[in-house]
Amino acid sequence: MGALADFWLETDARELRWKIILTVVAILVIRRVYIIIDRLYLSPLAKFPGPKLAAATSLYESYYDVIKGGVYYKQIQKLHKIYGPILRVNPYELSVDDGSFYDTVYVSGGIRQTEEFNYFVQGLDLGNTFFATKDHKLHRQRRRPVEPYFSRAGVTKLEPIMSECVQKLSDRYDSFEGTGKISRVDHAMQALTGDIIRRVCIGDGEDYLDDEEFSPGWHDLMHSIALCIPVFVVFPWVIHFLKFIPEKALVWIAPHTQAFNTYREMATKHIEDTKKEDPSKIDLDGAKIGSKPTLFRYLIHKSDLSEEDKDTHRLANEAQSLLGAGSVTTARTATVCIYYLLKCPEICARVQEEIKDFVVDWPETAPTFQDLEKLTYLQAVIKEGLRVSYGSLHRLSRISPHEPLQYKDWTIPPGVPVGMNAYYMHTDPEIYPEPFKFDPDRWLDNVTPEMKRNFVPLAYAEISLVLAVLFRPGGPKFRLYETDETDIGSLHDYIIPIGRFGSKGARIIFD
Ligand code: HEM
Repeated sequence: MGALADFWLETDARELRWKIILTVVAILVIRRVYIIIDRLYLSPLAKFPGPKLAAATSLYESYYDVIKGGVYYKQIQKLHKIYGPILRVNPYELSVDDGSFYDTVYVSGGIRQTEEFNYFVQGLDLGNTFFATKDHKLHRQRRRPVEPYFSRAGVTKLEPIMSECVQKLSDRYDSFEGTGKISRVDHAMQALTGDIIRRVCIGDGEDYLDDEEFSPGWHDLMHSIALCIPVFVVFPWVIHFLKFIPEKALVWIAPHTQAFNTYREMATKHIEDTKKEDPSKIDLDGAKIGSKPTLFRYLIHKSDLSEEDKDTHRLANEAQSLLGAGSVTTARTATVCIYYLLKCPEICARVQEEIKDFVVDWPETAPTFQDLEKLTYLQAVIKEGLRVSYGSLHRLSRISPHEPLQYKDWTIPPGVPVGMNAYYMHTDPEIYPEPFKFDPDRWLDNVTPEMKRNFVPLAYAEISLVLAVLFRPGGPKFRLYETDETDIGSLHDYIIPIGRFGSKGARIIFD
């Protein structure tokens, strides 16, 4: 028997053994007590209001997000009512519930340096994508080459891709007419937006829209990833542990993860093939954005991305993150708009009246985004859809790395993450009377500066087109089937909003 084992078994050593164990336990306890004292009394955040428990340990937040299921945003709202508009929500971070502070927190790089504090991204394992890059300069450097593709002008060039996908969806809906088929509209929207962003990024591939039920696995995959985020935030090692599980075993445990793996393989192949191309033989004229060049051909051959950032693995991560970011939120907003158009016939009738002249030649001629964005009522419906789908229910914190921020009498030291939540702002009754009512009319007159938000042109173009085509006079006939607000709702914060647990989703019937 080894000397170490002898030592543990010898009676004489028992006392020493206990001393060692007690010493280790004491060190751990003293360290924890020191951390708590530091957080409560010495930290630069100690002066900010909020519950002591939240300031002392992140477990307070985890209780609401992991155990109670993504409801810390609701608790924070209650705490704001008790402690005021500025609040310490965990040992590291502040929340501000006052729309007038929005322009101070969310500034462009030209005004002052700002960094994202998206700690939840560590759970997504997005590696060194620009989405997950914290450093201000590097974030901008990685993001800048992508921007022209999704700018207003870039999106115009993507319209043929959007029309092709929307036509595929519309044809499939036409074929369901009169069959009594019940279909998940949230699955269809997730398939549509996924196909569009895939074509934009890497071009050809299998369409989610071709699946009989619009690829429910693809929708469920995005939602299962979201449901894991709070756990990954508390136990980041889980994500590293998952990496050691062979891909085949993961697919066996959770078959829908195959959808992401397949996409990653396609993206990697596209990136590798593109790198072998001779750039002098490809027409990379900016006018061709959206046709064969693809976003990744453009990034590899035409953009000023550094050679290091053109690494295949990093670009494949970037493709995966764009597929997720570009599909889930847009699909949710489109689903919410469709839900309210079906629920409120008077709103639907006004949209139909407005769009009718622009879709007469569909599908021979698709309405352009330039036309659709002039339709004030349609755009008001989309703005209202964006308002009530919130984008995210999570506070999206920012760090000012060098300069303090001033909120009323409070000076927020540099380096402290401070976040605001779209849910609080979008449901502020001072700015949006009857905030839980879907009321596009609020966007027609008296639009105040507080109501204006930044919107993503690609998402706007996609949603405008799909609504115009599906609700065109003579378009497919369908109605809601056993679906209410809780099925499309924003009840649980898993970064993306999730509806009622156990919901069967947003369903429509073709009868
Ligand atoms: C209704 C549609 C959409 C909504 C509501 C939405 C909302 C958001 C929000 C709230 C963020 C987080 C920003 C932050 O932390 O400050 C974000 C980031 C992002 N979104 Fe969207 N988004 C939408 C559509 C899209 C589309 C179509 C794309 C694809 C091009 C896209 C790509 C991204 C990317 C790449 C980021 C990360 C940006 C960065 O880190 O600089 N989003 N989006």
